[in-house]
Amino acid sequence: VEPIGIAVVGTGYWGPNLVRNIQGFAGADLRVVCDIDVDRATLAVGPHSTIRVTDVVEDVLSDPAIDAIAIATPVSTHADLALACLQAGKHVLVEKPLALSVAEGEKLVAAAAEFDRVLMCDHTYCFTPAVRRIRELTYAGALGDIQYFDSVRINLGLVRGDIDVFWDLAPHDLSILDFVLPEGCEPVAVSAQGADPINAGHACVGYLTLPLSNGGIAHIHVNWLSPTKVRTTIVGGSKRSLLWDDVNPAQRLSMYDKGVDLNGSAGHRDVQRNALVSYRVGDMVAPALPEREALSSAIEEFVGCIHEGRAPLTDGESGIRVLRTLEAAARSIELGGAAVPLHLS
Ligand SMILES: NC(=O)c1ccc[n+]([C@@H]2O[C@H](COP(=O)([O-])OP(=O)(O)OC[C@H]3O[C@@H](n4cnc5c(N)ncnc54)[C@H](O)[C@@H]3O)[C@@H](O)[C@H]2O)c1
Repeated sequence: VEPIGIAVVGTGYWGPNLVRNIQGFAGADLRVVCDIDVDRATLAVGPHSTIRVTDVVEDVLSDPAIDAIAIATPVSTHADLALACLQAGKHVLVEKPLALSVAEGEKLVAAAAEFDRVLMCDHTYCFTPAVRRIRELTYAGALGDIQYFDSVRINLGLVRGDIDVFWDLAPHDLSILDFVLPEGCEPVAVSAQGADPINAGHACVGYLTLPLSNGGIAHIHVNWLSPTKVRTTIVGGSKRSLLWDDVNPAQRLSMYDKGVDLNGSAGHRDVQRNALVSYRVGDMVAPALPEREALSSAIEEFVGCIHEGRAPLTDGESGIRVLRTLEAAARSIELGGAAVPLHLS
């Protein structure tokens, strides 16, 4: 099979990771790297590279050797750029979040359908071995009913000027939630609280609370101001629970056979007496996970979808579900933290 000719547009902080992973993937041929700051494009390919660099996006769009374009520019530019790529007949991989609004995202999904091109949103974390395993386990029912999802993503982060901490960091947790919740279980509302203690002009610390359709609940904490880096997600189930600690390479994922069962339909007073509450204290196992960079699996998925003409695991629709939740969260903040209903499916 011929390798897919790819261009990367946008080589600031994240784009060079796309460049490196595309170069390392046999099924893809990185042909052009584009940034309006051409020095950054040159830096991304290295001084001795023969890969063409340019600061003119139109050159990439009109290049017949380019089948697909990976976009890692600021979020405010995603919709226009991705639309132009699709209209030029290119397959598109867009960095998260897909766009700045649901309306923009829907335009992209419609254009991908119209021009019969692959549209993938780089929800990178969905391609980590840990999250893929979590999804296998939740889909197979190994955790039982999902009772709660608790995700903390905090560190001394880059304080962005164009978007708040929800739009910057929560797409990760929201896309993971979307990816691991089994069929028929989804968030039904979101309430959001944020704070801007450094006067950045928008929230730098934020909390999202999302009741789930099965009676469970999800909570997401995102924060640019934390002195330490914490990336921990717990998925609690009626049978087993998972703890994913992304900053602990020695043991990223742990599965606990521990929990609380309530036997029979206990009334409030019975619970207080602990009459029907039993505690399960079983084993903890650490599932073996392959070590593989998520972005290389994402590139493989993108190229595979182009060859096979199928929808990516993180397609435009998944990008839109994340945008719907972010828009509802912004509305919740305007309403002082009130729960705003979500209709995701
Ligand atoms: N998947 C992840 O884990 C991850 C991590 C970080 C950032 N991101 C995403 O990557 C995207 C870029 O973020 P970043 O931190 O690299 O931003 P950045 O500001 O560091 O880099 C953006 C680059 O795009 C260039 N650019 C801007 N407009 C352009 C245009 N119209 N055409 C060509 N180049 C243009 C800029 O010159 C700059 O070099 C964002 O969507 C962000 O959310 C994803």
